[in-house]
Formats: sequence, C-alpha cells, structure tokens
Amino acid sequence: MAAEVILKLTICFLALMVRVQGGDPYLFFTWNVTYGTISPLGVPQQGILINGQFPGPEINATSNNNIVVNVFNNLDEPFLLTWSGVQHRKNSWQDGVLGTNCPIAPGTNFTYKFQVKDQIGSYIYHPSTALHKAAGGFGGLRVHSRLLIPVPYPDPADEYTVLIGDWYAKSHKILRGFLDSGRPLGRPDGVLINGKAGKVGVKQEPLFTMEPGKTYKYRVCNVGLKASLNFRIQGHKLKLVEMEGSHTVQNLYESLDVHIGQCFSILVAADQDPKDYYMVASTRFLKEVQTTTAIIRYKNGKGEASTELPPAPIGWAWSLNQFRTFRWNLTASAARPNPQGSYRYGAINITRTIRLVNSVSRVNGKLRYGFNGVSHTDPNTPLKLAEYFNLADKVFKYNVIKDEPEKTTTLTIQPNVLNMTFRNFVEIIFENHEKSLQSYHIDGYSFFAVAVEPGTWSPEKRENYNLLDAVSRHTVQVFPKSWAAILLTFDNAGMWNIRSEIWERTYLGEQLYASVLSPEKSLRDEYNIPENTPLCGIVAGLPKPSPYTI
Ligand SMILES: *[C@@H]1O[C@H](CO)[C@@H](O)[C@H](O)[C@H]1NC(C)=O
Ligand SMILES: *[C@@H]1O[C@H](CO)[C@@H](O)[C@H](O)[C@H]1NC(C)=O
Ligand SMILES: *[C@@H]1O[C@H](CO)[C@@H](O)[C@H](O)[C@H]1NC(C)=O
Ligand SMILES: *[C@@H]1O[C@H](CO)[C@@H](O)[C@H](O)[C@H]1NC(C)=O
Ligand SMILES: *[C@@H]1O[C@H](CO)[C@@H](O)[C@H](O)[C@H]1NC(C)=O
Ligand SMILES: *[C@@H]1O[C@H](CO)[C@@H](O)[C@H](O)[C@H]1NC(C)=O
Repeated sequence: MAAEVILKLTICFLALMVRVQGGDPYLFFTWNVTYGTISPLGVPQQGILINGQFPGPEINATSNNNIVVNVFNNLDEPFLLTWSGVQHRKNSWQDGVLGTNCPIAPGTNFTYKFQVKDQIGSYIYHPSTALHKAAGGFGGLRVHSRLLIPVPYPDPADEYTVLIGDWYAKSHKILRGFLDSGRPLGRPDGVLINGKAGKVGVKQEPLFTMEPGKTYKYRVCNVGLKASLNFRIQGHKLKLVEMEGSHTVQNLYESLDVHIGQCFSILVAADQDPKDYYMVASTRFLKEVQTTTAIIRYKNGKGEASTELPPAPIGWAWSLNQFRTFRWNLTASAARPNPQGSYRYGAINITRTIRLVNSVSRVNGKLRYGFNGVSHTDPNTPLKLAEYFNLADKVFKYNVIKDEPEKTTTLTIQPNVLNMTFRNFVEIIFENHEKSLQSYHIDGYSFFAVAVEPGTWSPEKRENYNLLDAVSRHTVQVFPKSWAAILLTFDNAGMWNIRSEIWERTYLGEQLYASVLSPEKSLRDEYNIPENTPLCGIVAGLPKPSPYTI
C-alpha cells in the first residue's frame, strides 16, 4: 500500500517536473508530405514536398524550444525524417532513422517531439530512408541563442538560409533502382541553391536582397547526395562565425568548401557597389565541375551581376588547409550541451580507440559499402526497440566489427552495432584508403574534430592533434587516402547512427549504430519510450516494458 502511494506521488512529482521543464516555449508544426512535380533542372520529375514546398519549410527556433512536428506521410512508401545535428539528449526516440524508429507507414502520421536543448546554430532536416533525400523533403532548422546568452557578433540586418546540393534529374525510385540492382548513381546532373539552378547570364529573380552598409547572416548547408561544394559570393568576403553549433574564430574567406551534411553560418557585409552579385556553388573533386548561381541584389542597386564568376579552388590540399584554419572560439559564451564533460577535452584520457575503415566491395555481384568488413542492413525491428524490449539477441549481435580492423577486402551484410560504455571518452579514427572524398556524421552528439590528415593513422599521430580549440561539430570530411580523428564522450544514452553522408554509400551499408546504455535505467539518463511510438517487427503488439520512474 505505502509503496503504491509513494509510487503514485513520485509519478505526480515527475509529471510536475516535466511540466515545469516544459516552461520552455513550444513550436507546433503540421507537415503534409506528398509527391509533386518539380523541374529544378528544367526536366519535370517527381519530387517530395512538405506542405507543397520544395525545399521544405524552415523551422525557426531558439535554444531550449520544444518542437512538435506532426508528419503526415502521403507518399506511397514508408517515410522518416531525421534532424541532422539536433542532439535529442536522452531521446534517441526522436532521431528518425531506421535503427531507432519504425518508418511512418503511407497514409499515417507520426508526431516528433523534441527540445533543442542548449544548442545554437544552423541545422537541416532531411529524409533518412529509401533514398527519399534524392527527391527533396529537406529544409533548414535555425536555432537562435536565447537573449540571455550573447552571441559574439552584432545582430545581422537579416538572416538567409542557403541550402546547396547536387541534384539528379531522375526520381528517387529510378535512382534507388540503380543501387538495388548493384550499380552506382554516377555523376549528378547539376547543383541547386534553394531548389533552383541559376545559369550565368540568364535572367534570374534575386534570391536575397541586402541594404548597402548592412551585414547579413547566411546559413549555408550542403543537403546534397554526393558532391562537396565550394560556396562563394562575387566581390564579397565570407566571415565564418558558426559551424554546426559552435562559435568559431571569425576568419575571412574568399570561399568555403562545404562537404555533405555540413553547415556554416557566415556574415556578409554589403560594402560593395550597389548592384547584383552572383552567389556560386560548384562541385569539387568530381571529374566535371557543375556550377550553379543565385542573385543577391543590393536594395536600390543598379546593374547586372558580372558574368565573370570568381574561380573555384583546385585540388584537395586547399580544402585540407582550410580545415586547419577552423578554430573554436573558446571565449565566446554559448549554450553547450555537456560543458563539464568536454570543454577541456584535451585533458581527458582516451578510454577506447575505434578505427573505422570504409570499404567498397561486391556482395553477390552487387555493389556494397561498409566499415571494417561489415555492410550494415536495417532489420525490420528497429535496433533501439529490440534493445528496449530485451529482444536484442533475436534481432542483432553487438560488436560484430573489431575496434582494430583486420585487413579484409570482403564485406558481409548484417546489422552493425557497437556497444559503448556510458560516459566513456572515445577516440574514433575514420580511415579512408580510397581515392574518393568521404564525409561522416554522428547523430546525438557533437565531437571534437582534432585532426584530418593525409596518409595512414598511427598512435604517434596523436602528438599533432588539436587538443585546445578544435571545433565541436557533427560532420567531418576525410580526404582521399587520408584519415580524420574525432574525440567525444558517449554521455547521451540512446541508439545513435554513425554514417557516411555520401548517400549511396550509406544506403548500401556504410553506416553503423552506437548503442549507449545507461546502467542506471533512470529518467535522469534516458526518457521512456513515448506513448505515440509505433511498434513494428517482432515488437509489434507487445506491451511496452514498465517505464522508468526515477
Ligand atoms: C495533404 O495533401 C494532399 C494532396 O494535396 C491532400 O489530398 C491531403 O488532404 C493533405 N492532407 C492533410 C492532412 O493536409
Ligand atoms: C526567427 O526567430 C528569431 C528569434 O526569435 C526572430 O528574431 C526572427 O524574426 C524569426 N525569423 C523569422 C523569419 O521568423
Ligand atoms: C496523428 O495526428 C493526430 C491529429 O491529427 C494526432 O492526434 C495523433 O496523435 C497523431 N498520431 C501520432 C502517432 O503522432
Ligand atoms: C570570440 O568571442 C569573443 C567574445 O564574444 C569575441 O570578443 C572575440 O572577438 C571572438 N574572437 C575571435 C577571434 O573571433
Ligand atoms: C590520465 O592518465 C595518466 C597516465 O595514465 C594519469 O597519470 C592521469 O591521472 C590520468 N588523468 C585522469 C584525469 O584520469
Ligand atoms: C556492453 O557494454 C557494457 C559495459 O561495458 C557491458 O556491461 C555489456 O555486457 C556489453 N554488452 C554487450 C552485449 O556486449
């Protein structure tokens, strides 16, 4: 009896706590996901629209806002959205990847509920399954700093979101057919800026307007499938102020290389002759350069943009040198998700080193990609659900790959899940022995990108890590025949996707999951499964395990 009363009181108390935490404002969205005909490269094709828009609507939020998005799937295929860079602290239930969520069945809806806790910056959301990203469904997500927390630059006159990405003039179903039948996607057909492909010398409506003398913030993200892009604005310098959630040292750049999945916030001063200027995005590291433009117009300006575009850099050494100039501004105040754990990250001892070597191979004659000999496949039961229902052993094996990869050129197809010890400080080395450029992302975390270097990694390379002011971010590139080292504390309980952002590679298995379990089984470390979570695979119809109450 007494125990029951205490339990009830505890539940009331928790309900109260949730409500008090819920004092942070809520933003509500209803999104209708449909097909629609779009012609970004002049050829009509099937696109994925959100509330009729391509790209999708932008979410404009402030740190700690609660975001509620009710997504209605009106496609003919299961669908999921993921929120790239949103950390979902204690809440991988909202991550929207096949390892954590059942896909939203056609004709049904699912409501994502998450808080952008202690985050600032420029982010994106995009479809995570079935190559839907090739058809659209992506958009921007801004997280402003709360008024209490100063930003290390004056308020810009306005802010503009710039979604750049390569594009294929074929439907996602055709492209998926290529991959399913074992052939690669091949080269993209063009590049888009906010869903359009402007040509030099061909009349375009201005995409953005600037008033002379004022300064504007551009939030630039690469939402493409494959190509790294160089971003530049005729006649203007780009002042980098933020990168994937961290205030950076504010260097000026002529142009920036933006790899797939990365986001940069830059300030641009309208300090040139009042006329039109081209904003340019062009592919890097592909045999043929694809270029697209958009117009920035000065208010009351006169004169067309010069048709002479600023040149793109050549070669990847330029890009590597640019990476080395990126520094975290250590004195800027900012919302930091885990300030104690990793602010002075250079002083923390590494407890585990995981080397992930990407590879490409043919399995049963079909193209597959993977890490350390395993090409990931998503089981019908999401990994997180299998684990939560204590049925993991029926669905997948932990640790099928080794931290030290063996020399192997073959791949086996199976779920790839690594077991992490809660709160361990881990070093991950992404090793790329191939001739192509890679881009890697981790859900649920920011990591310190302490080194990106050519050649082969060995423990002595640690001497040259940036252990002082590496930028805390969520996506890092790895150049051809190079490696990247990242450091992070696995303190966010959940099941988290680690993936190639090169979309055909991730679709064909170059991804894995980090299972981070808190031994405490406590609400302090992880939220209970939300009421509205659909159950599928072997957990369909099962009663939910008893919730954590403390
Ligand atoms: C979504 O859009 C489709 C097509 O325009 C329409 O038929 C449907 O009623 C819309 N659904 C909602 C929930 O708005
Ligand atoms: C976005 O939110 C910020 C902060 O609340 C606000 O100042 C700004 O006007 C909003 N922008 C748009 C386009 O709604
Ligand atoms: C689907 O949308 C309705 C409102 O139209 C909402 O009440 C319901 O909770 C949503 N379902 C899920 C699973 O989020
Ligand atoms: C870092 O942030 C501080 C505090 O806002 C600012 O004064 C300083 O100019 C910034 N430093 C650099 C190098 O950008
Ligand atoms: C890190 O490791 C060194 C050498 O093993 C040890 O002396 C030091 O106390 C450790 N530091 C921490 C913070 O655990
Ligand atoms: C996962 O890691 C924890 C902590 O190191 C350990 O107790 C547990 O046995 C591991 N589980 C598996 C399946 O490897």
